[in-house]
Amino acid sequence: MSSSQGNGQGRNVTLHMVSSLDGFIAKKDNSVSWLDTGGVYEAGVSISEEEAATFLKGIDCYVMGSRTYEHALELGWPYGDTPAVVVTGRKWPAARKSVEFYSGDLKTLVDVKLAPRYRNIWLVGGAMLCQRFLELGLVDEIKLTIAPVLLGDGLRLFGGSLTEERWNLKNVVAYKNGFVELSYSAPAA
Ligand SMILES: NC(=O)c1ccc[n+]([C@@H]2O[C@H](COP(=O)([O-])OP(=O)(O)OC[C@H]3O[C@@H](n4cnc5c(N)ncnc54)[C@H](OP(=O)(O)O)[C@@H]3O)[C@@H](O)[C@H]2O)c1
Repeated sequence: MSSSQGNGQGRNVTLHMVSSLDGFIAKKDNSVSWLDTGGVYEAGVSISEEEAATFLKGIDCYVMGSRTYEHALELGWPYGDTPAVVVTGRKWPAARKSVEFYSGDLKTLVDVKLAPRYRNIWLVGGAMLCQRFLELGLVDEIKLTIAPVLLGDGLRLFGGSLTEERWNLKNVVAYKNGFVELSYSAPAA
């Protein structure tokens, strides 16, 4: 669970994504078998299904871009009944009770719509929306999981328009399957 202090407003926005070793978050054909497993790293940890479930229960709300939403629906919706906000300029049919759609200013989304209701907010992609959140200074914590694979091509983790910024490493967890989770907190404002 996040140990970040958040931003002083009570809410904590964690950007979470899985990247290949060469910095891609999706293949061009959107296939996800590259996320399945790595090798075996004996010194790594593994977590049980119960531990994973307890961890996920601590997440109050997910935020995602509409392309990530579409892909998540195709994959079988991994976010359960936890409230989720999909950022989009389009009109969508209601697919799940827990999902609402948002169009508009992202700072208003976080500070006015989400912060009064949720504390532990997870921004789960994709590249476009995460980049916008970073540009606007709306991310308190980055959890980046590195998969032990080179993809060579695909969708870049963050595009090209971010500026130099030093983040603070808070934790590193190496898993038995060869994935490594890096946690960073945002630079002090
Ligand atoms: N490896 C991982 O951890 C990971 C995580 C998440 C997603 N992914 C992959 O990443 C891909 C999707 O990423 P993506 O970068 O293409 O798309 P995305 O960020 O998921 O969604 C982009 C869409 O979000 C909406 N949007 C973004 N910024 C907005 C803003 N400021 N205001 C209003 N709407 C905004 C727009 O929707 P409208 O066009 O509807 O207006 C835009 O087209 C998928 O392949 C997915 O599987 C990978």
